[in-house]
Amino acid sequence: MPKTTLKNLAIIMDGNGRWAQQRGLNRTKGHEQGAEIIRDVTVYCAKHPSIETVTFYAFSTENWKRPKLEVEFLMKLLDRYLQKELDTYQNNNVCFEAIGNIGAFSDKLQKRIKITEEATRNNTDLTHILALNYGGRAEITAAVNKLITEGKKEVTEADISSALQTPYSDIDLLIRTSGEERISNYLLWQISYAELYFTETLWPDFTTQELDEIVTDFEQRTRRFGGLA
Ligand code: IPE
Ligand code: IPE
Ligand code: MG
Repeated sequence: MPKTTLKNLAIIMDGNGRWAQQRGLNRTKGHEQGAEIIRDVTVYCAKHPSIETVTFYAFSTENWKRPKLEVEFLMKLLDRYLQKELDTYQNNNVCFEAIGNIGAFSDKLQKRIKITEEATRNNTDLTHILALNYGGRAEITAAVNKLITEGKKEVTEADISSALQTPYSDIDLLIRTSGEERISNYLLWQISYAELYFTETLWPDFTTQELDEIVTDFEQRTRRFGGLA
């Protein structure tokens, strides 16, 4: 019997570049292989009895610092991915949403994102969120500005939670692949009491079997939230 129920899962998919470099390939090959893993993880989450949302970090507000060619490749890959995976979303009853500042992307990509959101909005087994041009600080700042525009003079934690882009205010479990142990500006507000799991596995090598082991590990943890067990 699980001690703890997993509802909201977040994943920092890291290590695509190193995976490719280890094979003497261009970094872009790592991103391509990484996209395949997103599909498998999404299907696992849709079938899992308690997972309601999974939020993948796909492009950060800091990733614009990368070489122009890599950034352009990632944008094209995203467009192709969404086009190709629409069937996966529909066949697995998965609702797709994007968070982050999408307005910075090309009109074509923005349109693809909107079409995918629109087509899957009534699917109910899982909400699959891609964080795109996303930064935790940017999200919190935008939320506070939204509240100011609405006329608020003073804000509560509940106000900020509800003004964020995510449909939840708390992440239960955050996984980061590739051995790096940092947050890299991800979901800063939402992870305040998240359980953390760092694995050495590079994202393109990640499997649903490893995910299942991590979820089982999580379910045996005792979460105290500052209280006593
Ligand atoms: C994660 O893999 C994917 C993105 C950030 C888009 P990286 O591209 O960061 O791979 P490494 O960390 O350089 O190996
Ligand atoms: C975090 O990975 C962002 C994404 C996975 C999209 P990075 O590879 O960009 O993060 P740092 O630079 O190692 O912190
Ligand atoms: Mg990285």
